Amino acid sequence: MRFSLLFISITLLALCVRCSHNQETPATVEHPSFVNIAPILYKNCTPCHRPGESGPFSLLTYSDAKKNAKKIKFVTQSRYMPPWPADVNYTHFIGERRLSDEDIAMIKSWVDGGCEQGDVSKTPQAPTYYTGSFFGKPDTVIRMARAVPIRGNGTDHFYLIKMPMELAHDTFVRYFEFVPDKRKLAHHINGHLVNYVDSKKKNVHDGIPYTLDEYKDYKEVFQKMGVLHDDGSFPTLTPNTVYYLPGYAPPLYPDGIGGYRMNKKSAILMKSIHYGPSPVDVTDSSVVNVFFGPKPKRLIQETQLGTFGVSKIEPELILQPNQIQTFHTQATLNTDISVLSVNPHMHLLGKSFLAYAITPQQDTIRLVRIPKWDFRWQYYYTFEHPVKIPAGSTVYAFATFDNTDKNPFNPFHPPRVVTQGEGVRSMQTTEEMFQFIFSYLPYQKGDELMDLSGNAAKHP
Ligand code: HEC
Repeated sequence: MRFSLLFISITLLALCVRCSHNQETPATVEHPSFVNIAPILYKNCTPCHRPGESGPFSLLTYSDAKKNAKKIKFVTQSRYMPPWPADVNYTHFIGERRLSDEDIAMIKSWVDGGCEQGDVSKTPQAPTYYTGSFFGKPDTVIRMARAVPIRGNGTDHFYLIKMPMELAHDTFVRYFEFVPDKRKLAHHINGHLVNYVDSKKKNVHDGIPYTLDEYKDYKEVFQKMGVLHDDGSFPTLTPNTVYYLPGYAPPLYPDGIGGYRMNKKSAILMKSIHYGPSPVDVTDSSVVNVFFGPKPKRLIQETQLGTFGVSKIEPELILQPNQIQTFHTQATLNTDISVLSVNPHMHLLGKSFLAYAITPQQDTIRLVRIPKWDFRWQYYYTFEHPVKIPAGSTVYAFATFDNTDKNPFNPFHPPRVVTQGEGVRSMQTTEEMFQFIFSYLPYQKGDELMDLSGNAAKHP
């Protein structure tokens, strides 16, 4: 029910988009006005370009669009926006955001024609969004006990943060959404769900709320942060429940697929929350939105190849200066799986990425191709239907890195040797990673028919 309002506005919007297309094929609109442009913006841009979201300005109104018209023309012509790094000629995913050639031409002719407003009564209403979430109103919000200080000393910062929560009773969570406060600094977040046994934890708020992540032995620091039970025993910890990278939003799966049990007394333990360098002193008060759901029937599993993963990178990930190099990694499956989502991961020197599987019969199963890597858009790409990879298949991933001066994101001029660091430090933006992460279910008959886009309508 909590999605119903959002749902209606999206359905109406979809209808509007369709009816305006029925009346006139976009290619035939000679003098497009905002009446024709608004549906394109509302479908492809405003989920991010609105107050509180990642886009640097809002595009909800005519005057917003007019003010940014030249830039809009530029970024749509170049297909820089909407961001969708995956190659749509290789594989399709849910929520694919890609303008048609007609849409792009129409935006150009609208801007070149002086950004006419047109008949206001025919302009579709701007969608209404919930500020503070990509998805709508969360069931509850977990906040930091105290804002985290980030010193403006130009270096990376790694923190451990405990965000405690006390609910009325035990429940199930469909997904967690990390909402960064200082978006430009939030580099990556990996949060674990801590579930306490009620009788073993008097006060979930005890201990220090955060500390720099610089420990080898976590037991002592967990004690200080009140992460442990009162008797010193470990509560249950579910890793990787809250995840974030620039551009990331949690994938939504059908009812019963995935999800978490969350006890009455619980906490999110942000382990290695990583803030990039800041030029000035600031504080961060990011939050975690919680969306409740039904009891999970099937649990999602995740595997990663490459850095920290189950397979080794060949050759070793050492990026020589002034070179473009390709590395690969591979792993063979011993059981049938149904792949739901894929997530290629590299840092600033990434150039392109490719992953597929080869079955024992030598058939190729395409997974994902990123022709032009962009560090800012690290999506978890979800397939429309689970992709079955049979036992005995080998999953291959190839990553190409550009460590030349021509790479505009190269942090070093002149270029230097760049490698994987060690432990948490390897996540520094200036060090590299090559990971291919995929989430899957153990295969069950009929999985290929499961519609994973069922919840996509909830995706704005
Ligand atoms: C997934 C979120 C997202 C979507 C969807 C999206 N944008 Fe953006 N947009 C951003 C973010 C974040 C930035 C700032 C970072 C950057 O420039 O890469 C940005 C930057 C821009 C800029 C450049 C601003 C500048 O001054 O450099 C323009 C123009 C723009 N977007 C227009 C659009 C238009 C038009 C659409 C739809 C056709 C769109 N965006 C869709 C998130 C999004």
